[in-house]
Amino acid sequence: MPVAGVDIGSLSTEVVILEKGKILAGIIVSTGANSKVAAEKAMQMALEKSGLARDNLQYIIATGYGRVSAPFAHEKVTEITCHGRGAFSLDSGVRTVIDIGGQDSKVIRLNSRGKVVDFVMNEKCAAGTGRFLEVMAHALEMDLAEMSRLAPLARKTVTISSMCTVFAESEVVSLIAEGYPREEIVKGIITSIVERTVSMANRVGVEGTLMMTGGVAKNAAIVKALQESLGIKITVPQEPQVVGALGAALLAEEGLEKKEG
Ligand SMILES: Nc1ncnc2c1ncn2[C@@H]1O[C@H](COP(=O)(O)OP(=O)(O)OP(=O)(O)O)[C@@H](O)[C@H]1O
Ligand SMILES: [Mg+2]
Repeated sequence: MPVAGVDIGSLSTEVVILEKGKILAGIIVSTGANSKVAAEKAMQMALEKSGLARDNLQYIIATGYGRVSAPFAHEKVTEITCHGRGAFSLDSGVRTVIDIGGQDSKVIRLNSRGKVVDFVMNEKCAAGTGRFLEVMAHALEMDLAEMSRLAPLARKTVTISSMCTVFAESEVVSLIAEGYPREEIVKGIITSIVERTVSMANRVGVEGTLMMTGGVAKNAAIVKALQESLGIKITVPQEPQVVGALGAALLAEEGLEKKEG
């Protein structure tokens, strides 16, 4: 019986369709201005890819900040639970999950059965998130790939002292005007995100395998800097952005089993 998980984030929306634990489709689209439209589009694409019709889906769970925009979902579950479930399914050694998305970041602790035992979330502002990186890349007139490429070239790190994205952006603009090398500014931006994440990780404690999920896990420079700062290896799944939707789909499968008794 096929089921689906839908993760409607601030920047990206994912749909995973599962049948008996096997992934039939995994789709990522931009959320854009209308999360309802994005959710419909991703669902349609996932159905086409798996050769199914909407009616074939026996249970759908939605997660993510925009989960209210999925009227087709039978149930809504928090991102914490879904990222935890998804990460644990990919590696049962995972005890800590770091999810950095577009507008918030979280560190989740799991027990040996994969249940969430603790978490910390930064949802107050964009600082320390993917959006922060995008704003800074824009200020530096480069893309995220170029930021990743430049970071290792820095011989020094410029300190970005503002905690707020808006102030940090003006700080970056001033640093550019003052003639600081772009790679040093990039390193400063990365350091700022890493310090925030490490302080969250230390609050919940890092144990076992550490997996990173969410779009920022695709940023090699951030992953490398986080690894160095935490002093442990970080596992990045093949497609870190779909882990929340995968978790939602797995929970949908369990929900269906319970329903069918
Ligand atoms: N290919 C890539 N390389 C580097 N970074 C990337 C890449 N793709 C996405 N990102 C980063 O991922 C971020 C978006 O992450 P993600 O898609 O997990 O966010 P979201 O789930 O929509 O947000 P949230 O969970 O906070 O609502 C972008 O801001 C960008 O920094
Ligand atoms: Mg997300």
